Amino acid sequence: MQMQYSELSPAIRKILEALPDPGAHEASAPMLPRECYTSPEFFEFERLRVFPRSWVCVGREEQIPNTGDYLAPAIGAEPLLVVRRTDGSIGAMSAVCRHRGQVIATEAGSAGRAFRCPLHVWTYDLDGNFVGAPYLESRDDIECLRKNAKLPEVRLERWHGFLFVNLDSDATPLAPSLAKVEPFWANYENADLVAVPPTPGDTPLPWNWKIHAENFTDAYHPEFVHRGTHDFAPSVHPEGGVEFTAMTAADNAIVRTVPLLKADGGMTDAGWGPEAAFPAIATLSPEQRKRLTFVLIPPSMTLIFAPGAVAYQLITPVGAEATLASNDRVTAGGWLLPRSTHARNDFAERAATVREGAKKIWLQDIPVNLGVQAGKKSRFMPEGHYVPLETTLIQFNAWLVRAYRAAVPSP
Ligand code: FES
Ligand SMILES: [Fe+2]
Repeated sequence: MQMQYSELSPAIRKILEALPDPGAHEASAPMLPRECYTSPEFFEFERLRVFPRSWVCVGREEQIPNTGDYLAPAIGAEPLLVVRRTDGSIGAMSAVCRHRGQVIATEAGSAGRAFRCPLHVWTYDLDGNFVGAPYLESRDDIECLRKNAKLPEVRLERWHGFLFVNLDSDATPLAPSLAKVEPFWANYENADLVAVPPTPGDTPLPWNWKIHAENFTDAYHPEFVHRGTHDFAPSVHPEGGVEFTAMTAADNAIVRTVPLLKADGGMTDAGWGPEAAFPAIATLSPEQRKRLTFVLIPPSMTLIFAPGAVAYQLITPVGAEATLASNDRVTAGGWLLPRSTHARNDFAERAATVREGAKKIWLQDIPVNLGVQAGKKSRFMPEGHYVPLETTLIQFNAWLVRAYRAAVPSP
């Protein structure tokens, strides 16, 4: 249910009133108020009002291959079940039991043919229909529950095998909002990709999820922060460096693409380099084999299209200064790669090499993320000023402002 502006606390109203104009695509575009990154109350606003209206990636279809397999994510305050149904389709529904509200599952698993609530074992089929309850003897009661006690359905979209859910039944469809990413998928899926899902992060990183996303999408910092690990994929290069895509109000993706100094490069044990641990994908175009493309899909995921793999990350905000992240930099895995790569005898060694190089990059990012988070708490935090290399940050700011405004209509 959409909140009214008058229901907001004075502190949140003050933050929302200080938001910059989302159309300000200038270097001088102001940054978000610093409280957006530090205030627990503002995080609750995002958690309860913004994320439930957003398309949130909860995993991939390969993670639930068999009938009854399910994921158990939570979006905002809503525990959900994302399940492979009897007909092979995948659906999402509330995980809150229709009896007394026990959460049916909080971890992924296999339900077989039916979900059983742990508290009093009411059962539901894989579509969420009530099936039965112990000691419920009245046929009328059973019939009534069969008609009425269905786990509420939640919207789900599959996008290139990724599963996205949205608690807003009026949300605009996801796929058109990601149309600008489609050209980058070209030729990858001809390569018989398999997924290696990331190990889920379980230790919150001590910074706001937006700082995490900004760090990912920032083309300005690699030359300085990632000296030695990122020079092979430069944002600034005499023959053309980073390229951005235009951003409209309907877009849910923020894209930057950078050249590689040599075709078929990728992640090595020392960061991006020419001798990639994952071999280049034969179906890609020569142009694709010479670039890295970084895609931020706020608020929950990132993609890197590289010659040898698509690396993905899932981001789960858990507090104003607490963010879970799952990918090859922070935990392990998070790849789509050709079956032929995955089947190699030395795949485990190659994966470890990628993990080693990615971790080196990550260890360089940790101190700057801590530094940015600390700066947001300072009374001297500047309003900020972007340079052209930070186009993606301006675009992310615009996405955020639109999401905040859409969550609570102005009076
Ligand atoms: S709360 Fe689920 S069966 Fe009682
Ligand atoms: Fe970085």
